Amino acid sequence: MAFLGPLAHLVKRFFVSILVQRNNPKEEKYLLSLLTDRETKLYFAQPLIDRIHSVQSATKAKAELQNRDDQNLVVAAALHDVGKAQANLGILGRVLATIIDFILPLRILSEWKRHKGIRKKIHLYSFHSERSADLLEEAGSSQLVITWARHHHDKSSDVPLPVEVFTLLKRSD
Ligand SMILES: [Fe+2]
Ligand SMILES: [Fe+2]
Repeated sequence: MAFLGPLAHLVKRFFVSILVQRNNPKEEKYLLSLLTDRETKLYFAQPLIDRIHSVQSATKAKAELQNRDDQNLVVAAALHDVGKAQANLGILGRVLATIIDFILPLRILSEWKRHKGIRKKIHLYSFHSERSADLLEEAGSSQLVITWARHHHDKSSDVPLPVEVFTLLKRSD
């Protein structure tokens, strides 16, 4: 049932893309105050739907922290999907990519890296966790931010983070 998590995520974001057309300016300003210049560039390289997801995830993480001063977790929550922007897919393309990601073996999706057009885009979308982590590493982000980006679609047991950190970040996504 690994498909249901990403599908539920996508369905939710589909409705967000229709119903929510802009970011909460106060929450976005708060998030931007935590980001380095290079992280800010990655944030703004995302399409609006992903920037809204960044701010909503950051806001949820901040609420869970309840005044505990761990802004690193808020940044991790916000930037985990920055690699998706490079796939350059609209919402219908994302739905298609999620379905294909479920149907096709990983080996074939991995080989699509060498193709152009829609296959390349689906490859980039399917492997966005790795791409997010690589971009954040290049931007000099903290290890927590990079690790969460790399593993945010993995099972808790496969993620090298304390279980309470994993649970908080997963809930914020
Ligand atoms: Fe993701
Ligand atoms: Fe996400």
